[in-house]
Amino acid sequence: MSSIQIKLNDKTFVPYLDAQKIQEEVKKIATQINTDYHDKNPVFLCILSGSFMFCSDLVKNFCGDCEITFVRMSSYEGTQSTGNITTLMGIVEDIKDRHVIIIEDIVDTGNTLSKFIPEALSLKPASLKVCSLLVKPEALQDKVKVDYVGFSIPNDFIVGYGLDYDGLGRNLQDIYVIKG
Ligand code: IMP
Ligand code: MG
Repeated sequence: MSSIQIKLNDKTFVPYLDAQKIQEEVKKIATQINTDYHDKNPVFLCILSGSFMFCSDLVKNFCGDCEITFVRMSSYEGTQSTGNITTLMGIVEDIKDRHVIIIEDIVDTGNTLSKFIPEALSLKPASLKVCSLLVKPEALQDKVKVDYVGFSIPNDFIVGYGLDYDGLGRNLQDIYVIKG
């Protein structure tokens, strides 16, 4: 991993999780999901935009039939959750009687999933679980159950590997944390 700090707009970020560590964790999560779903033809429901990279790497490590579908939610402005959750693109595929796994990049306050999970459940899936690469337990305070978790991290703002600061940084292979 590069040891160099990066600047995105007005903020500076320092290295936090390198690409190799992230990929190892993605494989560990995929192993658990393979065990639980290999013969269930699950639907991976990727919450855009932040989850696109994690979802892509995760499904490449899933062995068995599966489908992938996308929804788009928005809650963040700058480095803060606005608490105002907007569904920019909802569920279009029929998930009735399907085994659905929601794929999130990070669960922070849990507001996004608190809004989204009832919407998904109203479509009567056979089962619904949540998988997130990152969780900030301090902000979440048990509001949402995350069934598959990669990293539990402190309540600091991060970028990279799909996560952005005002649109920037999603393309980075490593994850960086804001410089305090
Ligand atoms: P929540 O609704 O507060 O749980 O936040 C959910 C969404 O906010 C995540 O899926 C991310 O897209 C975004 N988010 C939360 N924390 C961060 C962060 O530290 N950096 C970048 N985006 C974040
Ligand atoms: Mg997200």
